[in-house]
Amino acid sequence: MMIQILIILYSFLLLSICISTQQQDQEQKLRFGKNGEFKILQVADMHYANGKSTRCLDVLPSQYHSCTDLNTTAFIQRMILAENPNLIVFTGDNIYGYDSSDSAKSLEAAFAPAIASNIPWVAVLGNHDQEGSLSREGVMKHIVAMKNTLSIVNPPEVHIIDGFGNYNLEVKGVEGTAFENKSVLNLYFLDSGDYSTVPFIHGYGWIKPSQQLWFQQTSEKLQKQYKNGPLPQKEPAPGLAYFHIPLPEYASFDSSNFTGVKQEGISSPSVNSGFFATLVEVGDVKAVFVGHDHVNDFCGKLADIQLCYAGGFGYHAYGKAGWSRRARVVVASLERTEDGRWEDVKTIKTWKRLDDRDLTGINGEVLWSKSFGDHAQAVIRRSKGNHDDLQIKVDELEKLFADHKLHVRNYGVTAKALVKSYARYQGREAKATSVFLRKCSANLAQFSDLYSLAPFKFDMEESETLAIEEDCEAYSHNGKPWNSHYSLTKGETNVARMKTEWGSAQKPVPVDNSPFDQPQKDVMKGDDETEDDSRKLRMGFAHDHPFDDSFNEQALVLFVLNSGNAIPAKLQSLHLLLLNCSDMKPR
Ligand SMILES: *[C@@H]1O[C@H](CO)[C@@H](O)[C@H](O)[C@H]1NC(C)=O
Ligand SMILES: *[C@@H]1O[C@H](CO)[C@@H](O)[C@H](O)[C@H]1NC(C)=O
Ligand SMILES: *[C@@H]1O[C@H](CO)[C@@H](O)[C@H](O)[C@H]1NC(C)=O
Ligand SMILES: *[C@@H]1O[C@H](CO)[C@@H](O)[C@H](O)[C@H]1NC(C)=O
Repeated sequence: MMIQILIILYSFLLLSICISTQQQDQEQKLRFGKNGEFKILQVADMHYANGKSTRCLDVLPSQYHSCTDLNTTAFIQRMILAENPNLIVFTGDNIYGYDSSDSAKSLEAAFAPAIASNIPWVAVLGNHDQEGSLSREGVMKHIVAMKNTLSIVNPPEVHIIDGFGNYNLEVKGVEGTAFENKSVLNLYFLDSGDYSTVPFIHGYGWIKPSQQLWFQQTSEKLQKQYKNGPLPQKEPAPGLAYFHIPLPEYASFDSSNFTGVKQEGISSPSVNSGFFATLVEVGDVKAVFVGHDHVNDFCGKLADIQLCYAGGFGYHAYGKAGWSRRARVVVASLERTEDGRWEDVKTIKTWKRLDDRDLTGINGEVLWSKSFGDHAQAVIRRSKGNHDDLQIKVDELEKLFADHKLHVRNYGVTAKALVKSYARYQGREAKATSVFLRKCSANLAQFSDLYSLAPFKFDMEESETLAIEEDCEAYSHNGKPWNSHYSLTKGETNVARMKTEWGSAQKPVPVDNSPFDQPQKDVMKGDDETEDDSRKLRMGFAHDHPFDDSFNEQALVLFVLNSGNAIPAKLQSLHLLLLNCSDMKPR
């Protein structure tokens, strides 16, 4: 009997050990992937209520009858599929209490797509979450008990703290690297409250001193760990902060210094509790992400901290009819050494996606990158023999870089687009293509620097994907021109694919009309098409398409250094060369 009791006790003990290690595992779960990236999807203001019986607000009259909370659900599902993030962050007003008949049910339905995806997720509270059958504490307690969430009601080590849902998460470096046990990215989540509880102060709540103290202590502890111990670092690991209500400092911008739109006032609290000053002073947080104002979706930089909105996500939240619901994506990318090892965070980028047919990506931008001067200096040191004027070069470069970064990238994109569309133009004729490749390849070599600047993959649309890109990629990476063997064998196989794709392109094209036999007008039309294509891609960079990491910063540094303001001229000569090789010049 005694033994049986012991066995039972023992198995209870084992069970509780298992549970506690499981919890610990979960806490340790966030780390950068083998691709050196960590991606966060931010979902702001779902305002979820009762599902299919809850109607949408502010959609076009034609959309109204078929639109419910289930459209919010569908949007999350599509976003998760499209981006496959490492973490999903819900920044409050997850449910809309007034219209929900059962808060717990609304929460279950609101987070169901995140749970089903098996991707870790977290949530903080907005000002509407508690308006139903659960209090703020009740909502947060319900959330932390849900599957796959890393949310915490409040940090266990702090006894007194205002609000519910203040916690932080560490994101470790890539497994198997020197940074595998270091938190290279720190995430902070705070409860920005609901409404002022001070009788003579109206308006929204604010982040209280108790929360700021916890943030400060947590950040300082993390910074100390990062700068000490194995592999000591000079700078703190970058941090990101997520909460619901914008800080008063969000009102510091106008359209001249933010990316995105501001279509309503900044609904911050009417008192400034000083959290922005705390962030500046503590120093590790590089970007702040909120919701609350559904039709503002900008990011602006103040005192080296990016202040970002996500833009409204939910269909039962107010919005603007005809202006798509949207979500914000953030990707932190690690530094990679020359021998291929992943280290600490190098850049943090962001973009938004719209809930339209193509989940159009907009407003891609770099929010933060590791000190550019250091980086440029290292590149120059590696590449130049003469270091005398190194510092001058770095200063010059830094300025040039700031002035030209976006332009230069656009030229890279344009260069690729040009090559692509000329090749496609030729692709209507197998023989012409191999002639084109052979004729042009030797001359293209001089543009490899320009060419390697393009930050995007050409994975725009299935019908637009051309095999020639692979050739172009290979070309741009090894910097050598295509040899004739390559273009005649692989090139020709690709031509078959190109032909099919060309045939299925949106615009009907007279395939049997060889471009060489066309009258001048049509030849020029071919040229216009090219222009259209490159313009679209250029636009694509500025407005439609998020980043990928094929962008080669080292190439950019060297290129800017060597050509300065001569880039447009260089692009123009590429254009001429391509015109020349493709025999498309006006007769
Ligand atoms: C909402 O979802 C329905 C059903 O899928 C769809 O027909 C409708 O177009 C969606 N409405 C909006 C505004 O996206
Ligand atoms: C990380 O921690 C694990 C477990 O303590 C240890 O085995 C491993 O060697 C550590 N890695 C590094 C790079 O310090
Ligand atoms: C943005 O520009 C406006 C002037 O257009 C200026 O008043 C404001 O201070 C700027 N804000 C920041 C953060 O630079
Ligand atoms: C165009 O081609 C001709 C002959 O193939 C060559 O002489 C000329 O320099 C080329 N022009 C350009 C701009 O490459």
